[in-house]
Amino acid sequence: MMQRLCTRKYVHGTVSASIDLKPPPYALDALEPHMSKETLEYHWGKHHRGYVNNLNKQIEGTELDGKSLGDIILASYNKGDVLPTFNNAAQVWNHEFFWESMKPGGGGKPSGELLELINRDFGSFESLIKEFTLAATTQFGSGWAWLVYNDRKLEVVKSSNAINPLVLESHHAYYLDFKART
Ligand SMILES: [Fe+2]
Repeated sequence: MMQRLCTRKYVHGTVSASIDLKPPPYALDALEPHMSKETLEYHWGKHHRGYVNNLNKQIEGTELDGKSLGDIILASYNKGDVLPTFNNAAQVWNHEFFWESMKPGGGGKPSGELLELINRDFGSFESLIKEFTLAATTQFGSGWAWLVYNDRKLEVVKSSNAINPLVLESHHAYYLDFKART
């Protein structure tokens, strides 16, 4: 008799496939007063959770079920002809990255090699902040601003909706943490 391994997890009565809702690496009130507990409860607890739940519903029983988040993003980006799972998958990744890019008492000017690269590629930390802020505030509609290390050079790029550097042409999987100021 064959025994079936059950790998499904049951969260609040709904079936969860392979992608988990990753909690921020700090308490939900740890970013106060810059970001309130209510914001984290809503943005992580409802918004980010919604992307995870919807993605799991979409991939259940399909060939994407059981694949890593990165693989799901690349497969569903489908070279720009995006499949319905792409938005949820990429937004899960983007939000995880966003939470992990912040920490209590974080922000400010970096040091060491990162600062050297910033000075080399942007002229100064202040210029980077200017360029990053401009990218974030001039993105039409919803989207993201990113600091990427591409072809041995730091660059600021912006993307619309769920698009992220994993699928931006010629961008490699090297990212640097950056605390967005709001
Ligand atoms: Fe969001």
